Amino acid sequence: MSEPALLQTEGLFSGYGGEQVLQGVDLTIDAGEIVAVIGRNGVGKSTLIRTLTGLLAPSAGTIRLFGEDVTGLPANQRALRGVGYIPQGREVFPELTVRENLMVGEVAGRTRGAPDYDMVHRFFPILKERARQRAGTLSGGQQQQLAIARAMMGHPRLMLLDEPSEGIQPSIIKDISRNVRALNAQTGVAVLLVEQNLDLIVSMAQRGYVMEKGRIVASLDQREITSRDEVRRYLTI
Ligand SMILES: Nc1ncnc2c1ncn2[C@@H]1O[C@H](COP(=O)(O)OP(=O)(O)O)[C@@H](O)[C@H]1O
Ligand SMILES: [Mg+2]
Repeated sequence: MSEPALLQTEGLFSGYGGEQVLQGVDLTIDAGEIVAVIGRNGVGKSTLIRTLTGLLAPSAGTIRLFGEDVTGLPANQRALRGVGYIPQGREVFPELTVRENLMVGEVAGRTRGAPDYDMVHRFFPILKERARQRAGTLSGGQQQQLAIARAMMGHPRLMLLDEPSEGIQPSIIKDISRNVRALNAQTGVAVLLVEQNLDLIVSMAQRGYVMEKGRIVASLDQREITSRDEVRRYLTI
């Protein structure tokens, strides 16, 4: 028998107060992959991510993580199983120091290993330099590094990354891609990225899905997801 997918959704419906946003989403991610779900503003990308974390309950469909049906499990139980979440807008704790923000991330990983500050400092040296600084004083790009590092403190097997390009200078977008790809290559963490930024998508993803109005309408292979012309077609109106 082949290994179960890291993440598999079937017929996922989800939304807010009876208003369905996701309209039957089927997708699969295998171990070690970096997969993007791309689509314009408002198509349901963040709703998908929140449903996968457990912050939103689906009204129909199933979510399997590492072969286990987790559809009914709360967010903390999914985090303990190795799901790391980097929300849109980052949501670092501005009044806490960089170090304290990272400490918050330790909780999810306690069953899979000791906190590894050396690992995150190797990937993000600035966070070591700024360890005692309040997170709210960091630049947008530095806060994004902190949010990713905070998730990595939990030793995730799957990282859910919601629009990391938002509010980031174009010159920093390449750095984020490089960091995430290095984390993926060196720790084996799989990544589900949802994005609408062309540069970030083509520089980070290995494969993708296109979302429109809460549905997956196309799958993109490696050649297509790394082609600016192909990806642009799906992001322009
Ligand atoms: N908290 C919320 N309450 C009600 N509707 C929401 C909420 N968040 C998002 N929506 C609606 O759900 C739809 C999809 O939003 P979202 O998942 O944030 O899209 P995306 O991340 O692709 O921009 C939009 O129509 C949006 O207005
Ligand atoms: Mg969003």
